[in-house]
Amino acid sequence: MTPGKFITLEGIDGAGKSTHLRWLEKELRSRGKTIIVTREPGGTPLGEALRELLLDDNGTMHAETEALLMFAARREHLDKVILPALARGDWVISDRFTDASFAYQGGGRGLAMQKLDSLEQWVQGEFQPDLTLYFDVMVEVGRQRINAIKPPDRFEKEQDAFFRQVRDAYLERAHKFPRRIVVIDANQPLEEVKESLDKIISSICIC
Ligand SMILES: Nc1ncnc2c1ncn2[C@@H]1O[C@H](COP(=O)(O)OP(=O)(O)O)[C@@H](O)[C@H]1O
Ligand SMILES: [Mg+2]
Repeated sequence: MTPGKFITLEGIDGAGKSTHLRWLEKELRSRGKTIIVTREPGGTPLGEALRELLLDDNGTMHAETEALLMFAARREHLDKVILPALARGDWVISDRFTDASFAYQGGGRGLAMQKLDSLEQWVQGEFQPDLTLYFDVMVEVGRQRINAIKPPDRFEKEQDAFFRQVRDAYLERAHKFPRRIVVIDANQPLEEVKESLDKIISSICIC
């Protein structure tokens, strides 16, 4: 059996993760892969309950509480969904994973990256995605796209300065892990982003 692969999609709100995830899923299925689509925070019943608490637009919580809940949901997600699927040989695509904690709780909220490193080590050891697609978009562009479709959640209500810090932290991650994280210019029109993705998919499906 071909071993499964773990692909994560990252980027600020409005970058196009959900849009391209659907397309990626279809493309990989057409190549004969069994695909499990999931998301963070969430992916399990407990994780989805934590997601509601985390995204509740009336909620306030300490930045460390937020980080701890994200990693608690992740521990469950790995145990119940991601690791079993990969062990079966399935491919897993997750709308966000640990890079988002470094970007939002580290960059956006300003938590020390070493604290997040410790949580990452605790929850997942050396386990990492096989591939991370980081959709890089300008903050103003992402916000315009999101405003057009839905009311903002607790994160989406943050100011542009918060999202600039999130974006900078994502770019730093991409710089630090150039072999795992592929940066896609998501400011481009949809068709051009798809073309970039198409090339990436062709290269990973050679395996
Ligand atoms: N490259 C793009 N050009 C124009 N519109 C886009 C592009 N990518 C996404 N969109 C639109 O922006 C909105 C938010 O996209 P979505 O995929 O939900 O982003 P995310 O999941 O990253 O928050 C959707 O209406 C989507 O159609
Ligand atoms: Mg989305």
